[in-house]
Amino acid sequence: MSFYVTTPIYYVNAAPHLGHAYTSIAADVLARHHRQRGEDVFFLTGTDEHGEPVAIAAEEQGVSPLELADRNSQRFRDLMPLLDVSNDFFIRTTDPEHVRRVQEILVRVRENGYVYEGTYEGWFCPRCADFKTDAEIGPDHTCPIHKIPLIREREENYFFQLSAFQGELEKLFDENPDFVKPRHRFNEARSFLAGGLQDVSLTRPKLRWGVEVPWDRSQVFYVWFDALLNYVTALGFARGKQQDLTQEFWPATYHLIGKDILKFHTIYWPALLMAAGLEVPRHVFVHGFLLAPPTNPGDELEKMSKSRGNVIDPFKVIEDFGSDALRFYLLREVNFGHDGPVSEGGFLTRYETELANDYGNLASRTIAMIVRYRDGELGATELDAELIAEFEELPEIVAGHLDGAELTPALEEIWKRIRRLNRYVEEQAPWKLAKDPERAADLDRVLATLHEGIRVITVLLTPYLPAATEKLLAALGRPETAWEDVRCTSAPISVQPLEPLFPKR
Ligand code: ME8
Ligand code: MG
Repeated sequence: MSFYVTTPIYYVNAAPHLGHAYTSIAADVLARHHRQRGEDVFFLTGTDEHGEPVAIAAEEQGVSPLELADRNSQRFRDLMPLLDVSNDFFIRTTDPEHVRRVQEILVRVRENGYVYEGTYEGWFCPRCADFKTDAEIGPDHTCPIHKIPLIREREENYFFQLSAFQGELEKLFDENPDFVKPRHRFNEARSFLAGGLQDVSLTRPKLRWGVEVPWDRSQVFYVWFDALLNYVTALGFARGKQQDLTQEFWPATYHLIGKDILKFHTIYWPALLMAAGLEVPRHVFVHGFLLAPPTNPGDELEKMSKSRGNVIDPFKVIEDFGSDALRFYLLREVNFGHDGPVSEGGFLTRYETELANDYGNLASRTIAMIVRYRDGELGATELDAELIAEFEELPEIVAGHLDGAELTPALEEIWKRIRRLNRYVEEQAPWKLAKDPERAADLDRVLATLHEGIRVITVLLTPYLPAATEKLLAALGRPETAWEDVRCTSAPISVQPLEPLFPKR
């Protein structure tokens, strides 16, 4: 089985922020989970380096677009290991290998008859790099996402005949109810489609920062076509000239994106692939916005974005608390697929109550009791059948959610079991059993049951908390993390003392 997951490629107009970390972390959880299930995984992320968003920022900063791209692309690349994100490749759209393939594919789209010359006139947002349709224009011709004035554009260029794919796209949506997830985003894309497709600019006149159009060197490709194609081009050169991964990994299993770029990924992208004679991706999962406290008190919650300045710095959070804490918080606090607010206060609360207390303490206490009462060793012990029954279907439940990219419900199922184990400790009170020599077998059973419950949960948590789970599994004496290790067993136990996984601040 192969599994191909992507994040959007991020604009290099500024440094990465929490929103970028969010999608990258989510994709990483899926990648790690599928690797754990023994699948062949390819996980792609990278940077989108052409177009207005980058050209304008470079001009403002008095550097060339490529200088800005080099500097900021490196920051995105550096962010990934800090987040413990295990991408298999990092694509830059300024890579000549990407550029060459974009030209090749778009020449083919033209040869297939979907490109014509025309005049574009309409409203454009330079931050979205988006030609807005009438329904997408905010009050006084502003961008509803960036709240900046739209620009009236009139230019001679080449068009992509999007309208030719109206019927095929309708069929795609009607036959594949999981093409776009979650459901409310499917409906949004479907109703955009129902509004009737208009052709879109494929190229823009030169003097712009972009990939040159091979059949007319006075033009460059509109940045979105260059950018979307990264998902395909990367497979061709990620492993060098010797190995083309396209056969193995295309079509992508999941494109993860934020709701701001839904139209491009659910409408333009499948149409472009159809025009090029390529297969469409299996799923596009659209997550919501992380919202930040308002800039002015009393205002509504706002989208966090680098262009609006109201951001939490992921680099700082990681420095203070480690990447696991950030990964956990983002996927736990905001139901993946929906909008939700994030704040430092909310972060601290979850860190203390859930990571440090519910999970970290449970693990430390259990290991400490095995050390204190049994010198760290337990022979093969029959487990508490009633409790273990509650863990039997957990792996399938978690896998089921993650197959649908439901990252928050999967985590909640795991957390329910953590709370259950905490109740079990209180119910069984091993410290009382330890005082009564006649109940030695009961104590063995309770300790072994806790060990196995925690171990199974921890194996299932490895995609979410790669650093802490590695330490904990080592202390539990069972470092294996493969899918066959998610079952409770009666094997002998040998534990090592453990430092607090999530130290209190
Ligand atoms: O759109 N909440 O790049 P971009 C959640 N280059 N996610 C957020 C977020 C927030 N507040 N802010 C950003 C582009 N994101 C194009 C993409 S793909 C072929 C080209 C995440 O730098 C989310 O994934 O503006 C969103 O879709 C993406 O960053 C936009 O990043
Ligand atoms: Mg953006």
